[in-house]
Amino acid sequence: MSLTGDVLLVGCGRLGSAIVQGWLATGALEPHRLIILTPSSKAVADQAAALGARINPPLDALTGVGAVVLAVKPAAWRAAADPLIPAIPQDAAVLSVMAGVASTALREAFGRRRLARLMPTTAVATGAGVAAFWADGEASRIAAETVFSPIAKLIPLADEDLMHAAVGVSGSAPAFFLALVQALGRAGAANGLRTADAEALARGALLSAASVAGGDTPLDDLIGRIASPGGTTRAGLDALAEALEQAAGLAVAAAARRSRELGA
Ligand SMILES: NC(=O)c1ccc[n+]([C@@H]2O[C@H](COP(=O)([O-])OP(=O)(O)OC[C@H]3O[C@@H](n4cnc5c(N)ncnc54)[C@H](OP(=O)(O)O)[C@@H]3O)[C@@H](O)[C@H]2O)c1
Repeated sequence: MSLTGDVLLVGCGRLGSAIVQGWLATGALEPHRLIILTPSSKAVADQAAALGARINPPLDALTGVGAVVLAVKPAAWRAAADPLIPAIPQDAAVLSVMAGVASTALREAFGRRRLARLMPTTAVATGAGVAAFWADGEASRIAAETVFSPIAKLIPLADEDLMHAAVGVSGSAPAFFLALVQALGRAGAANGLRTADAEALARGALLSAASVAGGDTPLDDLIGRIASPGGTTRAGLDALAEALEQAAGLAVAAAARRSRELGA
């Protein structure tokens, strides 16, 4: 990582822990440059500490911070950030992974510091995440890329408002796929399979899809490899098409709407 200074992670919950795991797994960040603030102890923070990271140090340890990653819940960020702000250098970049917290609110709190917002998936833990991101300028874009590109494929957005839609198609979407697996499991059970068997089969199907989804092969080609004309998959896809488009549209719109409400 060529960013100057330490990286301060505020919040080590589900996403924060995944980010640390990713940095450690990929070797993207030397552990001695990592500072983690976490109210309760977390296994991955302990693991990082054993390698040299600093956990909950005094505020004067923040004078060398080059980037701050905000990974607390949107409702908690003010309380978490306010005491830190005077100790964070003016040239540090503020990288928020929080859904729905607008740059205007971050700007109010962090003043003239560089800002970027990212919406990563928890697959950052293995370096296989994806993250839509928006940056307020070239320097913040470079900071966001330096900190996150080793653990996620970064998708730059031209307009911050697009972050709301990005929440619906990436940050929240892993849960949508899992809900589809549940629904397939229930449908399998309704068609005579044992519930546990149906769910195990549907989970396996998701893993199979995930194993080919990461590359650049067009989705139509990937689908075409499974769905031969006149076959079972084509029959299922035809039955699914209309409802699926509608359901995806509703889910993304609802997530985007909620993201806007949270940011309001
Ligand atoms: N999870 C995802 O897949 C995902 C994806 C994209 C974006 N996000 C965003 O990431 C953020 C975190 O989500 P999450 O799922 O990781 O939530 P989470 O598991 O609840 O993690 C939030 C963490 O913040 C910690 N925290 C609370 N107050 C703090 C403070 N004052 N200083 C330092 N840490 C503090 C909590 O500590 P304790 O555990 O000790 O209470 C908790 O571990 C949210 O804003 C969310 O919108 C999440």
